[in-house]
Amino acid sequence: MTVKHWPSSSLLPAIHGPLPGPKARAIIHRDQQVLSPSYTRGYPLVVERGNGAIVVDVDGNRFLDMNAGIAVVATGHCHPRVVDAIQRQADKLIHMSGTDFYYENMVALAEKLATLAPGDSPRRVYFGNSGTEAVEAALKLARYHTGRRRFLGFLGGFHGRTAGSLSITASKVAQQRRFGPLLAGVDHIPYANCYRCAYGKQPDTCHVECVKVLEDSLFKSVIPPEEIAAIVVEPIQGEGGYVVPPRKFFDELQAVAQRHGILIIADEVQCGMGRTGAMFASTHFGLDPDIITIAKGIASGMPLGAMIARASIMNWTPGAHASTFGGNPVCVEASLATLELLEESLMENARLMGEHIRSRMQHWPRRFPIVGDVRGIGLMIGFDIVRSQKTREPAKNLRDRIEMLAFERGVLLLGCGESGIRLSPPLVIQREQADFALDVLEDCLAVAHAG
Ligand SMILES: Cc1ncc(COP(=O)(O)O)c(C=O)c1O
Repeated sequence: MTVKHWPSSSLLPAIHGPLPGPKARAIIHRDQQVLSPSYTRGYPLVVERGNGAIVVDVDGNRFLDMNAGIAVVATGHCHPRVVDAIQRQADKLIHMSGTDFYYENMVALAEKLATLAPGDSPRRVYFGNSGTEAVEAALKLARYHTGRRRFLGFLGGFHGRTAGSLSITASKVAQQRRFGPLLAGVDHIPYANCYRCAYGKQPDTCHVECVKVLEDSLFKSVIPPEEIAAIVVEPIQGEGGYVVPPRKFFDELQAVAQRHGILIIADEVQCGMGRTGAMFASTHFGLDPDIITIAKGIASGMPLGAMIARASIMNWTPGAHASTFGGNPVCVEASLATLELLEESLMENARLMGEHIRSRMQHWPRRFPIVGDVRGIGLMIGFDIVRSQKTREPAKNLRDRIEMLAFERGVLLLGCGESGIRLSPPLVIQREQADFALDVLEDCLAVAHAG
């Protein structure tokens, strides 16, 4: 087995000329003729290969990927052990369809995930191919099990773009426009975004008005609670802005759900799989969800999603739900290798590197008037770009400019929320790389602020 290893000097970015280079320009031109215009590309990056936290574009420019291919390649790009697992499995069996037949590694992965899931309840696992499929499965199971039809979601939440999950998504209006009507019976309430509290409260003194509104008002006036199958919540909002709620938000939410027999679906597609320094972000908040959805980081880039439910809830019968490709044996093998690496050292690295990065970033609001808030757990870190720290008015154009400035300097960033920037690097990121990215970001913030 030959696995590429680059010399350590190649751990950092190197840009050779104006971006995009000639080969990238040519590919982008072809892409624009034939690919769906619904994709959102923030800057012209055309990737050829990747290793660890580094990707190389078609013109030989090297970039530091501070977003792990949108929080997916937890073990870094092309980790040798993941590549090896994929190659060995591809040699043996690529597909059989776990919906109709059995194979051992799908059982092994389900056993592993059931053990790792938060709480003590026995769990069962359903496999799909993506985050949105995991969420679809969760919504269907919640309806099937409870016999109820309504759902409750949160403003800013992102759960996918297929019709069911899109009904719960409330992130950007472009994702909804001209697609309705979607699922009936879905309501959204404000999330516990303490930087921009919908109720004008302070986190230390609030009474969790964002959950209390349910029993104080909505359940009395417009939503019969006994009709709600599940509350769908991201333990840390991802696309919505890398928003970290206080623990009391989840205490209240669980209490309300329990009182009314409502299930809690924790969507950990972005925040799960070791990114926060724990396998599941729910554990940081004492949250013991009835159903958990995961994807993204689960298989280091191979398409896999999973819905993990309490065994007592997963009472649907054969034929109720399945997917031809779900739990593909090659993806499953990549996932088993990924989980081993996460447990061996990468979750710990996420914790340590996350602390290091945040300890530098916490000074940013004092140093840069355009930085409004810095937050995060482990390697799920976000910060807001604002017009004024006093008004907290989002500065989207400035955020986009910072993203572009960083790209030109070889650091790949992604926005989130209205004017946030997220850092979700591969969990293999090294200190030297993290410091490089922060140096570049500080330079970009200074340039953007100077106008
Ligand atoms: C929390 C969350 N749920 C679901 C999804 C949908 O995942 P996918 O794009 O794999 O369908 C995403 C994707 O960003 C997500 O962040």
